[in-house]
Amino acid sequence: MLFKSKHINLRTKLATFKYRGIALDVHLLCRFNFSIHPVRRTITSDRPLHVTVDMMSDEALHEGKSASPQHGGKIADIDIARMRMPYRDAKDAFLENDLVAREPFAQFKHWFDEACKHPQIREPNAMALATCSRDGKPSCRMVLLKGFGPHGFRFFTNYDSRKGREIAENPFVSLMIYWEAPNRQVRIEGIIEVLSEQESAEYFHSRPISSQVAACVSHQSSVVPSRTFLADRAEQLYMEAHNQSLPKPAFWGGFTVIPEVIEFWQGQTNRLHDRIRFRRLAHAEKIDPTLTHMGDDGWVFERLAP
Ligand SMILES: Cc1cc2nc3c(=O)[nH]c(=O)nc-3n(C[C@H](O)[C@H](O)[C@H](O)COP(=O)(O)O)c2cc1C
Repeated sequence: MLFKSKHINLRTKLATFKYRGIALDVHLLCRFNFSIHPVRRTITSDRPLHVTVDMMSDEALHEGKSASPQHGGKIADIDIARMRMPYRDAKDAFLENDLVAREPFAQFKHWFDEACKHPQIREPNAMALATCSRDGKPSCRMVLLKGFGPHGFRFFTNYDSRKGREIAENPFVSLMIYWEAPNRQVRIEGIIEVLSEQESAEYFHSRPISSQVAACVSHQSSVVPSRTFLADRAEQLYMEAHNQSLPKPAFWGGFTVIPEVIEFWQGQTNRLHDRIRFRRLAHAEKIDPTLTHMGDDGWVFERLAP
């Protein structure tokens, strides 16, 4: 009979390597499992306890990650409060002096370029887009960033989708990109504009035929009877297309988010994260220079508490 079962996690930092300006910490994590069994004999020798020592698997690197208790296919509440990953050291802090520009687009390009080169980031342009209906109900989903610059941040979608309908009702949106490996997050808030038909058509025709077909047959966010229903329509259109580009449907195209606020966040292990926010200077606004700094092109920037 198992009398008592306990485990202890031990974590120790072995070394720090610098790789392309990013500090990589190597940690050794060990989980010691102890189970104590009562033994019906007189203990005269050593080894009164049965002790097992396991190295934690990759999955268990998150402290507190444990097997989900299953009860007839239903799960009980799972406590993951102890899941915690180390971020950066204070010596890698993101300071005002580290900004490559005093406006946010060049700074975004700098971080984006670093994310593109990072070996552990497969899709650096994946971002969350939050929209909000007229009656104040928010929704959020991933989209792909397809271009950016001083004009804004561009993505493509179906104008009749849920997001498209919410944008038509309320043009204020928010974008968020999180690059886990370098512990960086960028938050963008602004107003959205429809991209010109010509630019949307150019991008549509640059896509593979299969993607064009999918955009044409998918009335995004509508309820469909089955996967076969969509696959059959796609197959039929694909045959009709004879490998030629399709006309762009009117319900599909691009949006540009014109930012009013862009925040750069970099995570610290001690949770004193760095947050530098750029925002447009409001009309006739007087800034407190001890808190807010004049940037370029009508931007100001300031540090936020994490
Ligand atoms: C990584 C990733 C990238 C995506 N990129 C796009 C995209 O660029 N455009 C798009 O319409 N949907 C994209 N999707 C699908 C959306 O997340 C979403 O399912 C779809 O747009 C419908 O959202 P809606 O019903 O809220 O309008 C992507 C999903 C993922 C996970």
